[in-house]
Amino acid sequence: MSEPPTEHVSITIDGDTHQVPAGALLIEAAQDNGTYIPRFCWHERMNPVGMCRMCLVEVQSPRGPMLITACTNNVADGMVVDTRNPTVKKAQEAVLEFLLANHPLDCPVCDKGGECPLQDQAFSHGPGESRFVEIKRNYAKPIPISDLVLLDRERCILCARCTRFSDEISGDPLIEFKSRANVTEVNTFPDLPFSSYFSGNTIQICPVGALTSAQYRFRARPWDLQMVESSGLHDTAHPRLSVHVSQNEVLRLVGVDNDATNHGWLSDKDRFGFQYLNSEERLTMPLLRQDGELVETTWADALDRVAERIGLIRDEDGGQAFAVIGGAHGTNEDAYALSKFARVVLETNNVDARLDDALSSHFLAATVDRGLIADIDVADTILLWGPDLKEEHPTLYLRVRRAAQELGVRLIVIHPRATGLDDRASMKVTYRPGGGFALLDEIAEGKHPELRQALSADRVVAIVGQGSFADGPKLAESVAAYVRNKAGSARILPLARRGNIFGALDMGLAPDLLPGRVAPDEPGRAALAESWGESPAARGKDTRAMLEGIDSGEIRFLLLVGADPIRDVPDPRQALLALDSAEYVVSIDLFLNDSNREADVVLPAAGFAEKDGTVTNLEGRVQKVNVIAPIPGQGRPEWAILDDLAERAGRPIGLATAESIAKEISEVAPAYAGITWDHLDWEARDGAVVPLSGSQPLSHIPVALKGDSAPTAPLLLHVGRTLYDDGVMIRHSPSLRTLAPGAVVHLNPDDAKRAGAQDGHPVKVVTSHGEGEFSAVIDEGTPEGVVYVPFNQPGGAPLGTDAVVRVTAVGR
Ligand code: SF4
Ligand code: SF4
Ligand code: FES
Repeated sequence: MSEPPTEHVSITIDGDTHQVPAGALLIEAAQDNGTYIPRFCWHERMNPVGMCRMCLVEVQSPRGPMLITACTNNVADGMVVDTRNPTVKKAQEAVLEFLLANHPLDCPVCDKGGECPLQDQAFSHGPGESRFVEIKRNYAKPIPISDLVLLDRERCILCARCTRFSDEISGDPLIEFKSRANVTEVNTFPDLPFSSYFSGNTIQICPVGALTSAQYRFRARPWDLQMVESSGLHDTAHPRLSVHVSQNEVLRLVGVDNDATNHGWLSDKDRFGFQYLNSEERLTMPLLRQDGELVETTWADALDRVAERIGLIRDEDGGQAFAVIGGAHGTNEDAYALSKFARVVLETNNVDARLDDALSSHFLAATVDRGLIADIDVADTILLWGPDLKEEHPTLYLRVRRAAQELGVRLIVIHPRATGLDDRASMKVTYRPGGGFALLDEIAEGKHPELRQALSADRVVAIVGQGSFADGPKLAESVAAYVRNKAGSARILPLARRGNIFGALDMGLAPDLLPGRVAPDEPGRAALAESWGESPAARGKDTRAMLEGIDSGEIRFLLLVGADPIRDVPDPRQALLALDSAEYVVSIDLFLNDSNREADVVLPAAGFAEKDGTVTNLEGRVQKVNVIAPIPGQGRPEWAILDDLAERAGRPIGLATAESIAKEISEVAPAYAGITWDHLDWEARDGAVVPLSGSQPLSHIPVALKGDSAPTAPLLLHVGRTLYDDGVMIRHSPSLRTLAPGAVVHLNPDDAKRAGAQDGHPVKVVTSHGEGEFSAVIDEGTPEGVVYVPFNQPGGAPLGTDAVVRVTAVGR
């Protein structure tokens, strides 16, 4: 989708004439033409407020020269601007002298020291000394305004960046100014902490050290840090960020402004969810089960034993006795190595990175008319039918929020309960869990004319995924197909979980895909055959079928790669049964978890920032991730482990370095032709979007508009994911692990009354798959007849995918 062309006007800045976009802010136009105007409050991703007056410049007006703020005035044709004459200089010095009148002399102990705009501009534009000799303001410091953010009020220069961010960008205005005149201070509301999913952005954009990170405070100085650019992998939007390391330890992540993905914003999970890397509990040595215990051993010993077992089982039962689950948390190079290992060494297509996420691999990998995140900005209508974006794709949530709020895009949200975007939606449709197909039928039949009309607009972006565990696996692609038929020009953004799932699928980590989105039984595999030799042609089993196969004894060898199915599949009972009865389990991971604790061999892997590679996001955008920290102990990248194991199993896969794997991918995977690291490092800094060409054979997949009919019962269960849960990365990130909502069940007030449940009291929740005790949350946002349980919470019991549920107050 394209933006309209821009008109230009002519302005003169410090004697030089420039053509600049009509209507641009003066501060931005000057910057784009090489003139830096000092500023504190202006931020290019937020509306200007003119709070600090640091950007004063002189313009010629009909009434003579006048000082104006460059951040609140737009350029006009013929404008003559002076940014550094004596009048401007005097004004800048005055502003700084006033700002520093009450500012503490904290620089030696201030986290911002060394990267502080106030410090820098005091040097570059300040008066040199102050005439103020009075005692400065004093406050108790620092005060924690949340678990993640500390506030030193006397450092605040009242620029309103934090308050605007919370109000305009994240939509949770929990920080504000209070009092007036020279006692004005920034603070949170009494008894209301700054519990935003995006609070860390205010730390990043605060131009002084007033807002600091509880986790990073006093840990390093900017000049001690080494930095490298990378992409966040907690969700599939892959926000661009910078990794900062000191003394071999990742200390902080900072958002990088990038038009393509995140505009520089990060969720707190993206920002603080790296601490697991530094956990004492990281695996550092290969572990081998001996006499019932996992004991440390050498790489050679561990790999030789696994290779021996592979050879034995392959000879006895062939490829059908192997299963590979996982691979969506590594790089594309790791995923490619795993895909090749499974096909060449294990001779199987039983491989799946989706862990029963109930979305078709073909739909995810080769969505027809797949859109870009930036299409959201220029759409007429955005349809969001899938998970609550705020919980599962937080940076995408910010982008959609901005489009609806600032750019006037019509937003339609369809979900079983309240979502983070409802307050910005032009239309919200709530449906009963499991009733998605019935609703889609109704829309197709014209029963929701307004909705139907909105979806017939010229430019529609449909963001689709699994809204609820009770939605069938085909709903998302059926919605996408409906919109494609209806809209003038439709763009589809498919939503899936697990950081690099799109890269994993593109590398063939699915039972019905090979690298480059080629099906195992399609002619496109000829290119692959040249490099891989023989590989199985029959489509393999998905995660659920593999777990069943393990349980029945048909599958004897399970390889888990960064996967904890007991915690992560919708029906953990099945994973528990399978892992209990598995003959031989090998796990490559960062930690011991519920699923690999009983494994036969556990091999330590490299984590985020500990290896180079590429990743692919939901747009098909390939970006580079870079190494900057050492791998603890004897951990190794997944691809290197698999290459070594293949060699020992007598079927070498010939992978020498991550970069050479990337080259091999570009040669054998049609969609990745031409994607090289050099290109990504030097030319395509925002990444390169992988075209759909080469994957056309998959686009013929028929899509049904009809699906399962809606379940009927007085109460239906909606299980959804939350930003913080009991996943292994959060559990090992101290700043975040206490933020998960815990074992709670949300009940509509009327349903709660009927069940005799009170807010905060225990209730019993029973489905045909499981039961457990949860703490009741009485919640108007959950419709009558719907019971909402956040998935995988500390202390929570798994309830499976069945929609029918019973709730009773404990002790009733
Ligand atoms: Fe120094 Fe900047 Fe910190 Fe103020 S905010 S104490 S100027 S480093
Ligand atoms: Fe500005 Fe920082 Fe003060 Fe917020 S805390 S108003 S961002 S100086
Ligand atoms: Fe213009 Fe603050 S940057 S008034």
